[in-house]
Amino acid sequence: MKKNKNLKVAIVMGSQSDYKTMKLAKKVLNNIGIKFETRIISAHRTPKRMYEFAISAKKNNFGVIIAGAGGSAHLPGMISSLTTLPVLGVPIESKKLKGLDSLLSIAQMPKGIPVGTLAIGKDGAINAALLAASILAINNLSVKKKLEHFRLSQTRSVKKRPK
Ligand code: RP5
Repeated sequence: MKKNKNLKVAIVMGSQSDYKTMKLAKKVLNNIGIKFETRIISAHRTPKRMYEFAISAKKNNFGVIIAGAGGSAHLPGMISSLTTLPVLGVPIESKKLKGLDSLLSIAQMPKGIPVGTLAIGKDGAINAALLAASILAINNLSVKKKLEHFRLSQTRSVKKRPK
């Protein structure tokens, strides 16, 4: 495995319409100082793009892949089938079923090909970025310190009494 210091996170999504959710992951990674790249990759509309991305992700220095998809959300699972990098799936809130379809599609991967599944929508995008940071922090002291600092200030921001 390459030195984790240089590893990037890939933030991929099935459609431009997913970006309003997935851009929250960008914000978190920027704050922690982790390099990332964003791509629109659809498992069914651009299958060749998905294949090329997934098989070359490791050699392109990605350490974690965050994949957001909605509806019949097969993108995270398909990417995971092509790489052993950790894949974190963000279920996008769909119009008709409010993202329950996306959540079940991503979470219910049959054994053998794992996808770490986060919450539906923006909370999921934020937590996917935090989880990607935790994974990279195992071998990256600066990321580890920034994560610890984030947790501490989050704890401190919680008031003891309601106003
Ligand atoms: C999925 O279909 C995408 O991830 C998106 O959430 C959903 C709808 O896509 P658009 O019709 O908005 O392009 O592939």
